[in-house]
Amino acid sequence: MLEQLDSIYAQALDELSDITTGDALSGWERRYLGKKGEVTQLLRSTGKLPKEERAAFGQRANVIKNELIGAFAGREEAIRQHELATQLEEGALDVTLPGRPVQTGGLHPATQTLREFYAVWAEMGFQVFRSRDVEDDETNFTLLNMPPHHPARDMWDTFYTTTPGVILRTHTSPGQIRAMHELGEDGTQPIRVILPGMCYRYEQISARSEVQFNQVEGLAVGRNIRLTDLKGTIAEFARRMYGEDKRVRFRGSYFPFTEPSMEVDVECILCGGEGCGVCKYTGWLEIAGCGMVHPIVLHNGGYDPTEWSGFAFGMGPERMTMLKHGIQDIRYFWGNDLRFLEQF
Ligand code: DAH
Repeated sequence: MLEQLDSIYAQALDELSDITTGDALSGWERRYLGKKGEVTQLLRSTGKLPKEERAAFGQRANVIKNELIGAFAGREEAIRQHELATQLEEGALDVTLPGRPVQTGGLHPATQTLREFYAVWAEMGFQVFRSRDVEDDETNFTLLNMPPHHPARDMWDTFYTTTPGVILRTHTSPGQIRAMHELGEDGTQPIRVILPGMCYRYEQISARSEVQFNQVEGLAVGRNIRLTDLKGTIAEFARRMYGEDKRVRFRGSYFPFTEPSMEVDVECILCGGEGCGVCKYTGWLEIAGCGMVHPIVLHNGGYDPTEWSGFAFGMGPERMTMLKHGIQDIRYFWGNDLRFLEQF
């Protein structure tokens, strides 16, 4: 039986070296190593041998079985490698094809502009103060020098809630009152903040107006703040944001919470002041409303207006993004259309 074992071993190895396909390999495995395979059968018949021969035979048979299992694995790997190589040669797998692009998210154009604002204002010493989207009527209007029935309230079409006195803020200006109370330490500390955030207005939605949009409010309160500080600060912001050579101009205006009040124009960022479609051939783009904080507002924020003064401004980052990129319709901003968003 030992000779039989050795001849099966030799034969099996011989056959294995000629095998080139997975199917033939499986057949070989079944024939020699399977449950009814030749080696397995021989091992099973160990018991038929005379007692003194059994141990030697069993040992040898096990060695041969393990050798064959090892040889099988080696052949299996060789066939796999060969198949891969053939696939590559035949072009079934084109390794020169570009990879599939991974979809990465991007920042919303409004967020991009906001972040540019934060960076410029931070350099100029203004920290970000976050106020609330859901406001009360008193802070949004009354404390900003617009008591109930004040006609200036009509400048902001308001979303009211079912809770009396609770509204969605129509502008970021009520944040001025909250910042003064939270940072001013009972009217004893100076403040320099910007207040970015979403505002809500009950408007007919059109290409030029949306029911929601961002504003960036600014507030500086100190002991000797003058109109020239306001003008210098805004002009410096415009230069840092839109270019060293940009001129700004201030026009008198009206807001109930500032006195005096102004609107700010910057030289058109597209045509440089020569006149184009974006600036409607005026050469100027409006970028902000601003003014000296009204004494009543300072008082409502906890400051003594005979000792303290301040300036404030409000800007619309979406409008500025539209001007910069020539976006014709404000509805794109919150329309969630990827064809629009992916351009930024
Ligand atoms: N809150 C004003 C608006 O929504 C913008 C504004 C104007 C803010 C003048 C200010 C300011 O702080 O001083 O139209």
